[in-house]
Amino acid sequence: MKEDWRPSERILHIEKSAIHEMTRLSKEIDDVAFLSWAKPTADTPEHIKKGAIDAIQKGKVGGYSENAGLLDLRKEISKKMKRDNNIAAAPSQLIVTIGAVEGLSAALMAVIDPGDEVILPSPTYSTHIRQVLLASGKPVLVPTIEEEEFNVDIDGIKDAITPKTKAIMYCSPSNPTGTVFLENTLRKVADIALENDLMVITDEAYEYFTYDGRKHFSIGSIPEMKTQTVSCFTFTKSYAMTGWRIGYVHADEALIPQITKAHIPFAICTPVVSQYAALAALQSSQECIAEFRNHYLSARDLMCKRLDNLRSVFAYQKPRGSYLMFPKILLKEGQDSTTFCKRLLKDAKVSTTPGIAFGPTGEGHLRLSFCVPEDMIHKAFDRMERYFN
Ligand SMILES: Cc1ncc(COP(=O)(O)O)c(C=O)c1O
Repeated sequence: MKEDWRPSERILHIEKSAIHEMTRLSKEIDDVAFLSWAKPTADTPEHIKKGAIDAIQKGKVGGYSENAGLLDLRKEISKKMKRDNNIAAAPSQLIVTIGAVEGLSAALMAVIDPGDEVILPSPTYSTHIRQVLLASGKPVLVPTIEEEEFNVDIDGIKDAITPKTKAIMYCSPSNPTGTVFLENTLRKVADIALENDLMVITDEAYEYFTYDGRKHFSIGSIPEMKTQTVSCFTFTKSYAMTGWRIGYVHADEALIPQITKAHIPFAICTPVVSQYAALAALQSSQECIAEFRNHYLSARDLMCKRLDNLRSVFAYQKPRGSYLMFPKILLKEGQDSTTFCKRLLKDAKVSTTPGIAFGPTGEGHLRLSFCVPEDMIHKAFDRMERYFN
């Protein structure tokens, strides 16, 4: 390779992930208390594994499926979306994807041209920022209102719109803040999209994990938004299926062939064995979702209680959804969240994620995950109490 060889500009715009850097550093230290995992720690339920094993034994998984995914699976997703998202999604309006992330990437590829702007209420899931950059778009980070539980700033979104704006992209419930954008807020977002002819791309990965009476609302259920929404979902969180890499996208029939054009060169189809596992997940009892939710809720309450003992160090907004929260660091050294988190790891053996990983609006914060066993929360907070007091 020549010395002056350069990777693409597109790739050069993408910074190394602070999350992966923290994971790498955490592995170098013994006996770390992890509050940095954003993945379900439970294993996939047995009946889902059995669905996959049966399909393997019956010789069903050796070939490709339809690019959009098995028809039987899309029919089951249709039923689920009617029941839980209030969206009438015909199987022809669905593509089964490699997790939510492939669906989001394919959607962006189909929606934006190079240089187009995508508005992201921020802090937000850092992958979204990278996905926009990979599609050669420009992420426009609009700060959320921290004092209002990191709610969407409707006026901020309006002010950020330019002739180049093509889409609004958000996740609710949110990674990293745990915010649930409520129906009345999302109706205002829809009004903005309709007035300005923008697409809305949603990441509804944590749809089932909401607390304190907050309800998940799918913006795609607003009839006027039918042609202007791409809704992305996943089995990862709901069924503890992180490694199976399976999710799905719903969009208007006119958009599906365009998104499929992006899906095929990246994936051809989603691994068929995972599609059979997902089919088993949808066709069986949904009890596991309730069990995960109950665990996250009690873990959230425990984490908030333990944070209350560190009032001079952290100020937090109570997360109403997902299994993540985003306290502000009150100490002066917290203004550089990367150094703060690295020090916390090295000196107190507690692994967290620096807020800057979620965009500049996340600086001065850190992300904590309560998707961990309760004794892990105690271990981490016992150590932090000793370290800070
Ligand atoms: C908001 C959000 N979207 C998507 C994902 C990943 O989803 P999937 O595994 O379905 O690609 C995550 C994982 O942490 C997430 O937090």
